[in-house]
Amino acid sequence: MSHSTQEQHAGSAIALGYTSLDEEIVLDHLPVSGNIPTWLEGSLLRNGPAKFEVGEQRYRHWFDGFSMLHRFTFQQGQVAYANRFLRSDSYVESMRKQRLTGSAFGTTDPCKAIFRKTQSALINANVSVDQMVGEFVAMTEAPVPVRFDPHTLDTLGVVEYDDRLTGHHGCAHPHHDGTRQVLSFMTEFGPQSEFKVFAIGNQAPPQRRLVGSYAVDIYSYIHSFSISEHYIIIAEYPYQMKPLDLLQSGKPFIENFHWYPEHGTRFVVMDKQDGHVVRTFQAESFFSFHHINAFERDGDIFVDLAAYPDATIIRGLYLDQLRGELHAIELPHPSEFRRYHLPLSSEATTAGYERITNMSIELPTINYRRYNAHDYGVAYGISTDKQNPAVIANQLVRVDIRNRSALTWAEENCYPGEPVFVEAPNAQAEDDGVVLSVVLDGQKCNSFLLVLHAQTFQEIGRAEVPHHIPFGFHGLFFPGIE
Ligand SMILES: [Fe+2]
Repeated sequence: MSHSTQEQHAGSAIALGYTSLDEEIVLDHLPVSGNIPTWLEGSLLRNGPAKFEVGEQRYRHWFDGFSMLHRFTFQQGQVAYANRFLRSDSYVESMRKQRLTGSAFGTTDPCKAIFRKTQSALINANVSVDQMVGEFVAMTEAPVPVRFDPHTLDTLGVVEYDDRLTGHHGCAHPHHDGTRQVLSFMTEFGPQSEFKVFAIGNQAPPQRRLVGSYAVDIYSYIHSFSISEHYIIIAEYPYQMKPLDLLQSGKPFIENFHWYPEHGTRFVVMDKQDGHVVRTFQAESFFSFHHINAFERDGDIFVDLAAYPDATIIRGLYLDQLRGELHAIELPHPSEFRRYHLPLSSEATTAGYERITNMSIELPTINYRRYNAHDYGVAYGISTDKQNPAVIANQLVRVDIRNRSALTWAEENCYPGEPVFVEAPNAQAEDDGVVLSVVLDGQKCNSFLLVLHAQTFQEIGRAEVPHHIPFGFHGLFFPGIE
């Protein structure tokens, strides 16, 4: 193949990852190659946008597509698969009217969604899944998660909180603070906007308890946060908007934000127990979607995240960009694995960082159950091969944090999604287990579930589905779901 033909091929393969998957499918046995460990019992549940147009109308931004839930179920070395669209209000209405309805991140007027959202609205929760308040939930950045059945993937309704906490913009990445509570945040927009951190306990009906809050005059777009043993750590990037502009501009949600590098990035450290803001630290401006982990050592806090020099990545995720339909494709900078040092034990007010690896990393994951909020040694993510920079994620990376080394998995014309670590039974080492990733095969135009040995990062096995699975965002493995 000539160089330009190769590029064209890669371009069309990537476009396939942003092409709608219309069929809802249940497959009891996927063809498996290699050996999938028999101890791997349970289900990988994943979420992501899978439909980008209705009738003649198209969504503009990747983050807007209709949520599809995917289930890969493992039993005795066999793999079953099912998928189903989340029956959000906008999905149901759009299908009925055969045109796009409702609102989205980067397509239509946000006021309809952000300010008219009620506690009972079933939003297009296309970002992540979790198990909390005794339910399986799909989430996006709306404050109310959507419940679903992990077996049938049927949409069940919204989580009905029995409290008076209010907010407009929330978080799809809550943290499990041990088994005691789930921590998350939301912002209430108004003449005086307020950033609120809340905890959800194990009681039924579920209640959110305000942990702490602070006023925000200018709102930073924040996708995730981290926790350490004693603290909640929020990074406020200078990708900002004045909340009243959101009401008045008529622009899609994300287009109200602008990059103000002169503001820098501010870390806010909140006490988990009483919610007071312990300290803030100023850093040079950067942007991030995903914190990787945080922990305390010698009285200081270390925050690891996937950092971009600025927020151009969000512009890079418009569908015409991603599908290669534009002539001048802006390639966003790949994100770096940075470790920020918040010197809590000293009087210093600034935070510096070191780079952990020269590999780029996104959709980062760790051995969450045992190492979240603690000093840790291994992180996984998707990454871009520097030799082949014209595509986005075309490899998986396993970073050995202490040795500052990395292993990768890649295959020609293959585009992997978020790697999910699953611990082996009676595991001793942090990385004793497997890593699961849904990979798009651009050559065969279908997807497969890849199983890697978490320590060697070598393939153990794979299970193919007959169709392509559009690139997704986040998933988790649940041992109990057979
Ligand atoms: Fe995310």
